[in-house]
Amino acid sequence: MKLAVYPGSFDPLTNGHVDIIERGTRLFDKIIVAILVNVEKSPLFSMQERVEIVREVFKGSPNVEVDTFEGLLVDYVAGRKADVIVRGLRALSDFEAEFQMALMNRRLSPHVETVFMMPAEQYTYISSRLIKEVFSLGGQVRGLVPEIVESRLREKQRGKAHVS
Ligand code: PNS
Repeated sequence: MKLAVYPGSFDPLTNGHVDIIERGTRLFDKIIVAILVNVEKSPLFSMQERVEIVREVFKGSPNVEVDTFEGLLVDYVAGRKADVIVRGLRALSDFEAEFQMALMNRRLSPHVETVFMMPAEQYTYISSRLIKEVFSLGGQVRGLVPEIVESRLREKQRGKAHVS
């Protein structure tokens, strides 16, 4: 069984991520969406929310699993007995950091292969960071994120409006 891990922050999940996961399910028997527990960053969506969102979007896909991890990615991958890491490459600008990560992960764990996948063209400019920025400034993100993400973003905005 070919098991792949798709790691990331997913704060929040975008349609670019969804596209990569769907492509991954066509290449691998199972893809584990592994959400990093990052204590340094202050995420907009809690870990529980991020897990719920991915679960909801892929509820009809038994070959997509959602999990969280902390520490080294390669340790998590070994613990799950997977041997492939999937990463999305949107543009040349992603390449340098991704190349460094892939080679570092290879040095740490030579048997684990990183597979880069390109999302559909219409998603090549999307990032979680831009989605949060555009939405918080009143811009339209419809079609760039799953509907559940859009409604959760709206809930957060309403919550904020009540506080101030
Ligand atoms: O969605 P992101 O923020 O680009 O994902 C980055 C991620 C989670 C893949 C990366 O930060 C990671 O693997 N972190 C775990 C710690 C680790 O293994 N660091 C060394 C990587 S070379």
